[in-house]
Amino acid sequence: MSHYHIKDLEQYYQAYRKSVSDPEIFWDEIASDHFLWRKKWDSVLEWDFSKPEVTWFKGAKLNITENCIDRHLTTLGDKTAILFEPNNPEEAAQHITYKELSQRVNKFANVLKQQGIKKGDRVCIYVPMIPELAISVLACARIGAIHSVVFAGFSAAALSTRINDADCKMLITADGAYRGAKTIDLKGIADQALELCPGVASVLVIKRIDAEINMKQGRDQWLAPLLVNASDQCVPEIMDAEDPLFILYTSGSTGMPKGMVHTTAGYMVYTAYTFKNAFQYTEDDVYWCTADIGWITGHSYIVYGPLANGATTVMFEGVPSYPDYGRFWDIVQKHKVSQFYTAPTAIRALAKEGTDLIDHYDLSSLKVLGSVGEPINEEAWHWYNDHIGKKKSPIVDSWWQTETGGIMITPIPYVTPTKPTYATLPFIGIQPAIMDENGKELIGNRVEGRLCIKYPWPSIARTIWGNHQRYKETYFSLFDNMYFTGDGALRDEVGYYRITGRVDDVIIVSGHNLGTAPIEDAINEHPAVAESAIVGFPHDIKGSALYGYITLKDNGESSHHDKLRKEINQLISDRIGPIAKLDKIQFTDGLPKTRSGKIMRRILRKIASNDTANLGDISTLLNPEIVQEIISSALET
Ligand code: WTA
Repeated sequence: MSHYHIKDLEQYYQAYRKSVSDPEIFWDEIASDHFLWRKKWDSVLEWDFSKPEVTWFKGAKLNITENCIDRHLTTLGDKTAILFEPNNPEEAAQHITYKELSQRVNKFANVLKQQGIKKGDRVCIYVPMIPELAISVLACARIGAIHSVVFAGFSAAALSTRINDADCKMLITADGAYRGAKTIDLKGIADQALELCPGVASVLVIKRIDAEINMKQGRDQWLAPLLVNASDQCVPEIMDAEDPLFILYTSGSTGMPKGMVHTTAGYMVYTAYTFKNAFQYTEDDVYWCTADIGWITGHSYIVYGPLANGATTVMFEGVPSYPDYGRFWDIVQKHKVSQFYTAPTAIRALAKEGTDLIDHYDLSSLKVLGSVGEPINEEAWHWYNDHIGKKKSPIVDSWWQTETGGIMITPIPYVTPTKPTYATLPFIGIQPAIMDENGKELIGNRVEGRLCIKYPWPSIARTIWGNHQRYKETYFSLFDNMYFTGDGALRDEVGYYRITGRVDDVIIVSGHNLGTAPIEDAINEHPAVAESAIVGFPHDIKGSALYGYITLKDNGESSHHDKLRKEINQLISDRIGPIAKLDKIQFTDGLPKTRSGKIMRRILRKIASNDTANLGDISTLLNPEIVQEIISSALET
């Protein structure tokens, strides 16, 4: 019997045990019974973490859009696939059926082909949360082009870096974006980026806000007229199981963002399987994930996972605060949402607004609440449980990463008993390990350390685009024969996992991963800056916020400091995006350094968190005297 739909705890344990003792048989059954293959695989899994190399379903042939769209047409053709809720609540929602989605994806795919895009070409998608974003992703997959979606909140510089790293031939963008009461000049940002991207031969522009924009002759074209003449039939490109499906960038501790490469078959099987179970999706449910498709959560759990299950997936263009903080609940009521998946930062922001607005809405359709992106604190967990779930909807605190492709540790709602702030148990097929600092696995319960995964799962990213060495160094070299997550975790007395947060220099601000190095690079570009160090500190709503310690070439008048602060944040905004702006900037005469010249961030983190009672041993520093100085001037910041 296949364990595609887990219905009780006994079945979870059975499936889990089988997935560990006979992983190949287990995944062979899941993949055989629930997907459409043009050709079955020759082997289920081949792997070697020392290279590292992972191959799932070798030799299989398929197209993921046949699985997400075509195969549902006979039974679910008239069912809503994508339910689009616009930024402006006065604008009508759109119910895009599977039939219509099929036509729109095929038309778009034919346009891509006419523009010369072929299997393996990279297409960058810089589009707000409108249906065309999902459609362009699927259109790429239809013809075997590799999509690289860049979140539409990123700056021109960040966009150009990503376009060039993946050597994209085409950019798909929009004339602008709505964001609450504001509009964003997306095309203007794209134009600026493209000045640095000679490889982009064509740009397709979606009309959304009717803005006056610049169209560059010979490069830019409006999408709509091209679609009119395109056929709504497009034979899918038959892909190999391990052909790349997409690249998605994520921040690293150091250097350039990493273009994580996900391949076709394993990603499809795992995102579909986790979607079905982590949300207990059943046929008439309306599922809503509030993430943006610019992030992995949107790729896996707005687009591919839900559509592979024939689900109705909501896409929301706007923000939780527009026109007021009741908007999420308005949407839940209006569309009778059954599963609601969001981030702790959104929960905290909404909790701050009290419960009056919530009381106006009927939330009785909700059955499952999800949380993702960062550890959910106890207070937020209870608020979510009490006021949104009314203590009857289990909270799925799902831990995973861009690199893992799908949910890794999570309760299965109505199956796994939940516990506040715990992601609870590994999903089926996932074998976590908690490691100590010396690389020894901590066996048994009541242990805490670094979180690794010791066995491959189908949707693990296969490499970093163009830099396999970095992939190996980042994820497979700290611990022998293990994938290292970058997170800390503990296992409690019953074997439940709690994620304790990043143990590297990635800081999660409002659920967005930010690496410290690119932000420091941006700051250091300011002519007045000598050196800088960024750390995270606790923030009520954002979870973590950024604290920058900056030394100036010439400390000068402190009356200039406010002006400098503004300029520095503007630089960060230009280079990376507004999400990376610093909440606090402290100018200091020096930074604490080890004798080898490394900045001691551990100390800076403690000062930023106002936790200076126990700074540990600072005697080994090159300049121990600077610590007291920073503490004293921190009080004034
Ligand atoms: C963090 C998002 C605690 C974690 C899907 C991870 C979490 C990083 C949780 C990946 C959770 C994600 N509890 N921490 N439920 N979910 N994280 O790549 O630090 O944007 O490594 O993927 O977010 O973020 P990413």
